Amino acid sequence: MELSLATLRQRRGVKWNAYPSDVLPAWVADMDFEIAPAIKAALDEAIAHSDLGYAQAYSDSGLDEIFCARMQARYGWQINPRQVDFFSDVVQIIYLALLTLTEPGAGVVIQTPIYPPFLQSVKETGRRAVISPLVQGDSGYTIDFEHLAASIDAQTTLLLLCHPHNPTGRAFTRDELNGLAELVLKHDLIVVSDEIHADLALDSRRHIPFASLSAEIAARTVTLTSPSKPFNIAGLCLAAAVFGSDALHKQFLTLPAHVRGGRSALGIAAAHAAWTASDAWLEEVLRLLRANRATVVTFARQWPRIKHTPPQATYLAWLDCRGLGLAVEPYQFFLEHAKVALSEGSAFGDEGRGFVRLNFATSPSILQEILTRMDAALGTL
Ligand SMILES: Cc1ncc(COP(=O)(O)O)c(C=O)c1O
Repeated sequence: MELSLATLRQRRGVKWNAYPSDVLPAWVADMDFEIAPAIKAALDEAIAHSDLGYAQAYSDSGLDEIFCARMQARYGWQINPRQVDFFSDVVQIIYLALLTLTEPGAGVVIQTPIYPPFLQSVKETGRRAVISPLVQGDSGYTIDFEHLAASIDAQTTLLLLCHPHNPTGRAFTRDELNGLAELVLKHDLIVVSDEIHADLALDSRRHIPFASLSAEIAARTVTLTSPSKPFNIAGLCLAAAVFGSDALHKQFLTLPAHVRGGRSALGIAAAHAAWTASDAWLEEVLRLLRANRATVVTFARQWPRIKHTPPQATYLAWLDCRGLGLAVEPYQFFLEHAKVALSEGSAFGDEGRGFVRLNFATSPSILQEILTRMDAALGTL
C-alpha cells in the first residue's frame, strides 16, 4: 500500500508537483498510498471497456442504496435513498448550499481555525462569516458555547459545521453536538455538516452524524460526505449530500442542473467499489495512520515550544509553532530551512497564524524524513 518516493514523484497530482523536487510535500489532503484493490479493479474494468461515456443515473446504478446501507452499517444512521443526491465535490456542494439555502448577506457560523474553503465560500457568495473560534486547551480544542450563542444574531441563518473538524482533528462528542443542536433549534438555523473525514476516525469512538441526533435536527440538516478523503480518490470527483427534508432538497435544486454540474462515470464506479468492497483496505490505512500519528507525537514532544494535540480523526496534525518565536510564518520557515511543504496556518483564519498543518498520510519512512528535516531546521534556532 505504501508508495516509494520515486513512484510518488511520477504522480501528476497537485501534491507532488506544486513544489521543486528537493521539497517533501506534506500539505494538501491526499494520501501517498495505493488505492484499494477493488477500486483499482473497477477503474481498470471501465477503462478496458472504454466505458467513459455519460454516466448512468446514480439511482439506476444503485449508488444511493449502497450509500444508505453503509451509513446504517457504519454509523447506525438510518436514511433513505430519496434523501440522497450526488454531486462533484463537497466544496462545490457547500457553495451551492450557501447560494440556495441562504440570502445574500446572511450570517453563516464558522468555527475557526477552519479548512480554508469554508471562509472563501462564505466570502465569495456574499454571505457574512459569523466567526466562533474553537478554544485551545491543554487537551485540544473545544467549543465556546457562550461565545457562539452571543455571536448569533437575527440575520444568522446557517451553521457550516466541520465534523470531524479540519484542521484540529476534533471528532465532536455527543454532548458537544447536542449543545450545538440546542443552539440550532433555538435560533432556527439550517445546518450544513461537512462529514468528509468521518471514516477517518482514529480513536475507538464511532463517528456521530449530526443529523442522527434527532428527527428535528435531521429535518434542518444537509450532510455532506465523499469517498474522496478516506479512499483517496479526490481526483474522481464524486460527493454525496443527504437532505434532511424534501423542502431543503427542493430549495437546493433551484439552481439549474448544469450549474450544479455532473458526476463522473469513473467517480461513480469507484464509489461503488469503495463503499462495498474496500473496508479491509481502509482498516489497514487507519492502522498505518495511527502509527504515523504516534510518530508525530514523539516529534512534537521533543520540541516543547511546539504545542500539539493528536487528532481524534483525519490524518492532519495541527502544530502550534507560536512558541518558537520565529521571525517568519512557520510555513515559510519549514519550506526554506527544512524543504518541507506544510499547509500555512493563516489560511485557516486569524486563529491559525503561527500554526502549520502537517499531512502524515504517507509511508513511515517518508514521514520520518519529513520530521528529521524539520528537527534539523529547528536545531538551527
Ligand atoms: C473538511 C473538508 N471538506 C471538504 C474537502 C474537500 O472535499 P472535495 O474534494 O470533495 O471538495 C476537504 C479536503 O481536504 C476537507 O478537509
